[in-house]
Amino acid sequence: MAEQYPSIVFVCLGNICRSPLADGALRHEVARRGLGWTVDSAGTGGWHAGDAPDKRAIAVAARHGVDISGLRGRQVHARDFTRFDLILAMDHDNLAGLHAIAPPDHAADVRLALDLVEGREGQAVADPYYGDARGFDATWADAQAIARGVLRHFGVDGRYA
Ligand code: 4NP
Repeated sequence: MAEQYPSIVFVCLGNICRSPLADGALRHEVARRGLGWTVDSAGTGGWHAGDAPDKRAIAVAARHGVDISGLRGRQVHARDFTRFDLILAMDHDNLAGLHAIAPPDHAADVRLALDLVEGREGQAVADPYYGDARGFDATWADAQAIARGVLRHFGVDGRYA
């Protein structure tokens, strides 16, 4: 019987800033540990479908040794509720958007991404899109904390070696 690995999708509004950074941070940690997990991201909006992440997001990830330039935006879909075990919204609007399209009988665990970070439960990842480059440093820090929280959620040591 095939072993079932966790599958996680991060969801923000545009899928070009916050969720690609969380996607990249977790993907990096999963790859480092040789875990066969599925990690993805999507937006509640479809305006940036097919687009690469925002240049400022690509730059901050690259400064931390993570390449997210190959990611492409897509809109979240009702079938994501059966494809993924864990659906992590970056803010409360994203969470409301997810609940609005959730199939009635889905089994996915849908919650705020920062709920998995001790002391940050119930908080939103601030949207850096309309701000300056410094906002993206804060987004990266949140993305890293979330990646660590997801590892711990699935019983993997989240410490950075
Ligand atoms: P994200 O940021 O949801 O973190 O990807 C945004 C990206 C694009 C827009 C808004 C937020 N936009 O309005 O196009």
